[in-house]
Amino acid sequence: MNRLSLTIFAVAFSLLGTAQPSSPSIALIPEPVSVTVQQGVFILPQNVTVGVPEKADLGHTYALLKDRIANTGATVQEQKGNGKASINLVLNKSADNRLGDEGYTLSVTPDQVTVKANKPAGLFYGVQTFLQLLPPQIESVERIDGLRLQAPAVEIVDYPKLGWRGLMLDVSRHFFTVDEVKKYIDNMSRFKYNMFHFHLTDDEGWRLQIKSLPKLTEIGAWRANKVGLFNTFTPPAPDEPKSYGGYYTHEDIRELVAYAKARFINIIPEIDVPGHSLAAIASYPELSCTEGADKYQVRSGEPIMDWSHGAPPIALIDNTLCPANEKVYGFLDKVMTEVAQLFPFPYIHVGGDEAPHNFWEKNPQVQALMKKEKLKTIPQVQAYFERRLEKIVNAKGKKLMGWDEILEGGISPTAALMSWRGEQHGIEASKSKHYVVMSPTQFAYIDYMQGDVSTEVPIYASLRLSQTYKFNPIPEGANAKYILGGQANLWTENVYTMRQAEYMTWPRGLAIAESVWSPLDKKDWNKFAVKTEAFFNRFDAAEIKYSPAIYDPAVSVAKKGDAYLVTLTPEIEGLDIYTSFDNSAPDRFYPKYKEPLQIPKDADELRIISYKGKKEIGRQMTIKVTDLKKRAK
Ligand code: ACM
Repeated sequence: MNRLSLTIFAVAFSLLGTAQPSSPSIALIPEPVSVTVQQGVFILPQNVTVGVPEKADLGHTYALLKDRIANTGATVQEQKGNGKASINLVLNKSADNRLGDEGYTLSVTPDQVTVKANKPAGLFYGVQTFLQLLPPQIESVERIDGLRLQAPAVEIVDYPKLGWRGLMLDVSRHFFTVDEVKKYIDNMSRFKYNMFHFHLTDDEGWRLQIKSLPKLTEIGAWRANKVGLFNTFTPPAPDEPKSYGGYYTHEDIRELVAYAKARFINIIPEIDVPGHSLAAIASYPELSCTEGADKYQVRSGEPIMDWSHGAPPIALIDNTLCPANEKVYGFLDKVMTEVAQLFPFPYIHVGGDEAPHNFWEKNPQVQALMKKEKLKTIPQVQAYFERRLEKIVNAKGKKLMGWDEILEGGISPTAALMSWRGEQHGIEASKSKHYVVMSPTQFAYIDYMQGDVSTEVPIYASLRLSQTYKFNPIPEGANAKYILGGQANLWTENVYTMRQAEYMTWPRGLAIAESVWSPLDKKDWNKFAVKTEAFFNRFDAAEIKYSPAIYDPAVSVAKKGDAYLVTLTPEIEGLDIYTSFDNSAPDRFYPKYKEPLQIPKDADELRIISYKGKKEIGRQMTIKVTDLKKRAK
């Protein structure tokens, strides 16, 4: 975009900004509690002054404002004390009871911007909202010298619904550098997330330096380098170079914790045990009670579980720490000592998911433990393990959280739960007065495909934006008092790069952010869809990758007699869909989709494209007729 059109855009934006409160021209995510649009606009002056409290740790708040505004070529100066600056960040002298610790008020008038909060976190969130009121160019990675950006005059009161607003990133299946993790955290902070769940260990890599257990990162952080579709790879040969991996040193972690804190984000570390522990066992085979574990290698993507019978999986190799081996508890003590020192957050997540039963069932040491401890079932064996682990975690001054499998053999009264296999475990746990974070697969698993399989990296399940948006972290039947909040999880088996991690996270991360922050009655799918499109412009300016899957229709097939009927369902309003069965790429001069399409006899493939008016907006989808027929219900 050239300078002139940018200016026209900014002026058009400001004019739209004076419209009614429901106007989509003000696109804020998450939707605030209350937005009242006023007359006029605030024009960023050439010399911006920012009033900040005399004494307060504002974290990254001022630097964020300064960085973004200076990018427009304006000068930015800090002024201690408040009142007369162009932008004022004010800590309330007496608390505004509506706002709590994270809420804020934001007043934008033609003369001045004022953010008020009880605590610094609220000022940070108020500034994020103010930046969203400015046009997308404020996000630009390139300098936009000379642009006089405008924000609509507005009065906002805002505070979060829930205190735990999280995203999980799996850095075991694929490793992300400190700078990449920082970028992920920074992007979260735009949408008022406050919890980064760091999935640090798994079968595919141990990613945290434990100084007292050096092999965890000398051996456990490295594996054979494979590319393609995870879970389909051949097992690595014993002498195959272990060239893929990495880990975070103690300094790295301290740097990340400080970086997140400055953005009012906590980091909860996850050490996933007793299952998902192959990288630890490859490092210290004595942690297993299965013979031959000394030959085990860090998984490089070869199948190690048989899921064909459902959960729990049948393990093809034993990826569990042995619950009947005292050395395991000594190992966990060392690990938790360092984890507790590195991460200030009160909880440590200890995993607990998907521990297979089949090796434990046959193991004489486990059988002896069951007899000695009067444990009747394998889930009770896991519960024994979790109780001992909780003692270790508590002894380090921390509280234990685990995936919902830890409910099965009897949860300890003080353990907290992260509910992923649907909502029911979370509801149950909350009713029995255990703190719960909701992250159910059907709304919050952002490793699932967000569009048709023809446009996505294939994975076993789908989760479209519209479904993500239905996430209600306080489901019916739950004891709301015990719901800490909600989060989405990004597992990275098939996420090789940070670009793809961004693609998987956005825009679904917008839907989750609104679901955990905004009042239920402020949620509105149609409005959210329009806002999401507005945020695509901001992501473009910031060079953040996102999925445009909302423009691609869902494809379903039904069989009627001998005929196959293909139904295309657009996810958002205002799209025209064009199709071909002649193997050529359709455009808007092809047949427009109006009703289910009958697959012509002998056709080879269906091609699909979406338009908005005259603009091609979706991705060319190509689906073989043989695949379509397999989808028939
Ligand atoms: C999980 O998805 N296995 C927690």
